[in-house]
Amino acid sequence: MFGYDIGISGGVTGMDGFLIKFFPNVYRRKLKAKEDNYCKYDDQYLQLFTSSLYLAALISSFPASKVCTKYGRKPTILSASVFFLLGSGLSAGAHQIWMLILGRISLGFGVGFGNEAVPLFLSEIAPVEYRGAVNILFQLLITIGILIANLVNYGTSKVHPWGWRLSLGLAAIPATGLFIGSLIIPETPTSLVERNHEEKGRKTLKKIRGVENVDPEFEQIKVACEIARRVKYPYRNLMKISSMPPLIIGIVLQVFQQFTGINAIMFYAPILFQTVGFKNDASLLSAIITGLVNVFCTLVSIYAVDKVGRRLLLLQACVQMFVSQTAIGGILLANLKSTNSLPKGQAWVVVVLVCVYVSSFAWSWGPLGWLIPSETFPLETRTAGFAFAVSSNMLFTFVIAQSFLSMMCHMRAGIFFFFAGWIVIMGIFVLFLLPETKGVAIDEMKERVWKKHPIWKKFMGDDADDRAKKTIEMS
Ligand code: BGC
Repeated sequence: MFGYDIGISGGVTGMDGFLIKFFPNVYRRKLKAKEDNYCKYDDQYLQLFTSSLYLAALISSFPASKVCTKYGRKPTILSASVFFLLGSGLSAGAHQIWMLILGRISLGFGVGFGNEAVPLFLSEIAPVEYRGAVNILFQLLITIGILIANLVNYGTSKVHPWGWRLSLGLAAIPATGLFIGSLIIPETPTSLVERNHEEKGRKTLKKIRGVENVDPEFEQIKVACEIARRVKYPYRNLMKISSMPPLIIGIVLQVFQQFTGINAIMFYAPILFQTVGFKNDASLLSAIITGLVNVFCTLVSIYAVDKVGRRLLLLQACVQMFVSQTAIGGILLANLKSTNSLPKGQAWVVVVLVCVYVSSFAWSWGPLGWLIPSETFPLETRTAGFAFAVSSNMLFTFVIAQSFLSMMCHMRAGIFFFFAGWIVIMGIFVLFLLPETKGVAIDEMKERVWKKHPIWKKFMGDDADDRAKKTIEMS
């Protein structure tokens, strides 16, 4: 659903039927516009259609974290599916702009609830040695959603004047899948124990591990829950010095994920490819090519993340993304002026470079931006901390969605150097500040990761939580 929403908007906002119905001014301007390559799609309202969803997601991730703690991961996912169903119905059937907006808000609530609960769900049910791979299924499904959306848009763009209704309405299919799925899945053992259903928690753990003896893991979960239960105000607890390391890492990784510039490509790839000179169909097709690269390279990450670790993937990708972004910027700077288009050969080189860029994102910052924040918080601040990570992602997704077309209009080819600059900062951050979390049990991060890191250990005093933990362990 998240992926489908990301992929569908760019195509829909390019469809004439949609523009005539809801944005007639934009349509008139589009017909009359004296076309400037970098500026022809710069329109605040159009960008707002794409970005409003992320604003709703940003706001809803905080109530979602409360539902997640109080009622569990499963009902949170179920609520997400209901929001998605409502949102797809409203936007596909919209006759007036308020229905469209209400639909976007409802979809945004779905993303807020879903993105809060699903990565946590996956990290909590996964066995430690495969946690990275299992969690990355979330990202894999995002990329598949984006690809399907691109394919759908390719087909519906030929259905005048209501192809956009199909694009928006077909979201109900994965939403129904999520609805049914959320009734079938078990609740995570951690959430069950946290909410005092100890026996059920043990039974679920046995079931998902497929073995009878789950005592060591179950004891770990119980200790984590015992500590968590003593924390009455998770948000206040999150502001303690000792909570800063995972909080800073969680927020920064998500912000950086967006400053790779990925959504400039994901939302606006067809527009970008038109900018360099492809016709409508060819540019949609190129968007499908990048979508395919995105899916297949996420598989690389599933394979590699628990073997080579998180840091290596992120650092390698920084180099690859930096090189491809600067190369794209260089080509556009040298050859794409306001009104010409690139020679065919060069336009294809740009498509290849975009694929090189997307591939490295797909095995690194894409999945790891979600994985690392979902595995580094202790249970007592996990849902609250993760809500900050999710909302930071949404905030900057919103910022990029709202501003990319305007930025391209004003900065022109410089936009690619802008993102390349951020990538250098991200690489330095990972090099010095990101600890490796591969192979560490989710409830042992504090002892084995934060307290061992040369910089972050300074934040981890022997506080009340540690004393509580020792008491429980001794008893
Ligand atoms: C990001 C999205 C992005 C997608 C691309 C996700 O991890 O959060 O913003 O569009 O990856 O595959």
